Amino acid sequence: MELKGRLAAIASKVPKCETLFDIGTDHAYLPIFLIQEHICNHAVACDVRSGPLRIAKKNIAKHGFQNNIDIVLSDGLSSVAPTKRDVIVIAGMGGMLIADILDASKDKVDSAACIILQANTAIVTLREWLYSNSFEISDETLCKEDRRIYNIIIAKLAPGNDATSNNKKCSKDFFVGQKLIDNANPLAEEYFERMIRKYQKVARGLEKSAKFSGTQINIPEVEYFIEALAELRRRNIDGNI
Ligand SMILES: C[S@@+](CC[C@H](N)C(=O)[O-])C[C@H]1O[C@@H](n2cnc3c(N)ncnc32)[C@H](O)[C@@H]1O
Repeated sequence: MELKGRLAAIASKVPKCETLFDIGTDHAYLPIFLIQEHICNHAVACDVRSGPLRIAKKNIAKHGFQNNIDIVLSDGLSSVAPTKRDVIVIAGMGGMLIADILDASKDKVDSAACIILQANTAIVTLREWLYSNSFEISDETLCKEDRRIYNIIIAKLAPGNDATSNNKKCSKDFFVGQKLIDNANPLAEEYFERMIRKYQKVARGLEKSAKFSGTQINIPEVEYFIEALAELRRRNIDGNI
């Protein structure tokens, strides 16, 4: 099996591990691919609905991986128990739902080697949850599928579970993925430009609303992404000298 686009990008971030827990597996493409590529020895494909799990079961059987991949009906992580040699992936859902899933099983999430998260919406909520719960974002990347850009976040419990440094995080840290700048992500420039346009549109919308009529609205989100873009470009220039 080959993966493309978003799922391929997520798979490329999964480190070698004992067991991969795919929460919200749907078709089980990710665990099938990771077993095939020997990234993990074993996988658990979880979903809250039995319909997707029936499809997952068929796909797993088609590849002959019945002995490698368990199928578990589970709301989030409620019916599974990862250990420190395991990796959790939660992908293809809204950021609020992902944050709720993490929040409901904080002790289990803490136990894993790392968690890999790909939220379709509300990435800000997700970063805020991670920083408020003693996690650090060890890596972040972007991928593009059908013109849409997706963020993929890799998070680990901060050393010593110390939330002190994370407490110093400000709103900008929740909006802008600093690792995208640090790693000079090739899609970061396009992504930041899109975010600037998105929040400028929000500001223009507010200006048109009756409440703010006639007043120029500046929302901090626009500034966050303008600063991020400037930092990215500065670093790219410095890096090329
Ligand atoms: C859009 S699919 C994403 C599938 C796959 N992870 C991907 O990224 O392509 C979302 C899946 O998450 C499942 N889901 C939603 N809420 C869930 C929860 N609380 N616990 C487990 N699975 C959930 C849905 O049933 C659905 O199969």
